Amino acid sequence: MAASKTKCIGILTSGGDCPGLNAAIRGVVKAAIGVYGIKVVGFLDGFRGLVENRTINLDDRAVSGILTQGGTILGTSRDKPNKMPMGGKKMDMTNVAMENLEKHNIDCLVCLGGGGTQKNAYHLHNAGGVEVLTLPKTIDNDVYGTDITFGFDTAMGIATEAIDRLHTTATSHHRIIVCEIMGHNSGWLALGAGIAGGADVILIPEIPYDLKAVAKHLEKRRISGKRFSIIAVAEGAISLEEAKALAKAEADGKKKKNSSGEVVVEKNADGHAYHLVQEPKASQIARRIQQLTGVEARVTSLGHVQRGGSPSTRDRLICSLLGTATADSLAQGNYNNMIAIRGDHSEPVPLKDVAGKKKLVPKDHPWLQTAELVGTCMGV
Ligand code: F6P
Repeated sequence: MAASKTKCIGILTSGGDCPGLNAAIRGVVKAAIGVYGIKVVGFLDGFRGLVENRTINLDDRAVSGILTQGGTILGTSRDKPNKMPMGGKKMDMTNVAMENLEKHNIDCLVCLGGGGTQKNAYHLHNAGGVEVLTLPKTIDNDVYGTDITFGFDTAMGIATEAIDRLHTTATSHHRIIVCEIMGHNSGWLALGAGIAGGADVILIPEIPYDLKAVAKHLEKRRISGKRFSIIAVAEGAISLEEAKALAKAEADGKKKKNSSGEVVVEKNADGHAYHLVQEPKASQIARRIQQLTGVEARVTSLGHVQRGGSPSTRDRLICSLLGTATADSLAQGNYNNMIAIRGDHSEPVPLKDVAGKKKLVPKDHPWLQTAELVGTCMGV
């Protein structure tokens, strides 16, 4: 066994699930146990299982065969340690989480998750002195400090294949089809799949759209003889008018935000915050575009299909790299970093530089130039 400064770790998966989580868990467990002799305790259902002390022992047998399995063998939740829904209230359970880590003699807690998870891990470190390491997971690809998040490549492949399939039916019926793609803050998934799938219009949250400009683009297509169009829209895309209204509400201090920076407009009985339940973005756009163009429009919302199934080859590679690199960091006693992807390497990035930040599509990103150079309408 190689020497290791770490003797025992906890590991959890938090936030939206995605293909690759099990591949990453496998990478951590196989290297930690097999190379460094580190004991691994799995906490179930994200930070909720940490607070409730619900665990499974993770060994080679437990991770056998999970490389290709979607989802997470640990389960997940969106619960936060310091705002844990308990009996309809939100309780700060940070101390309980720390006590449970001590009960298991855990030297470092490994957290696999998106932006919210990076913040939650950083909170445990700041509030309770917990040593943590994180891995960047989300199909949205909007975690700051890493070239890519795992889950993104698989979801992009699913969305691209869906757009390919929508092309065949749109051409047969001479229709406009609006395909709603996940990404409530960032447009990476809609932009990448839109380009790869040859969408004629791509609408993303970073570029507020004008449906009149979209209708004009579609009209030009019709005049040129194209009797169908595909619009790829990120679920978080907003119109110019909505962008102005949100900016005004923010300026007037009317836009309530929760700890993860989301606009909270509705809560259910157990205190879970939800976005406003509105008419889905794709339906709004389809209805308006049909009115503006007089062409029949239909809607497909890909939803959680984009988070299902087996991870892509690239995600399996990324997750195995990140998982094993995490074990190396544990052995060196190198804590409180996010293990990020940089090119084809992994790189530890201080968690303090990542927590609370998002990576949105920059205006000068080459994918935006590519889209425009192939004649895609970006809604303006
Ligand atoms: O954060 C990833 C994500 O899939 C977003 O793209 C999507 O808006 C959200 O999760 C859906 O959350 P839930 O699975 O809780 O409905």
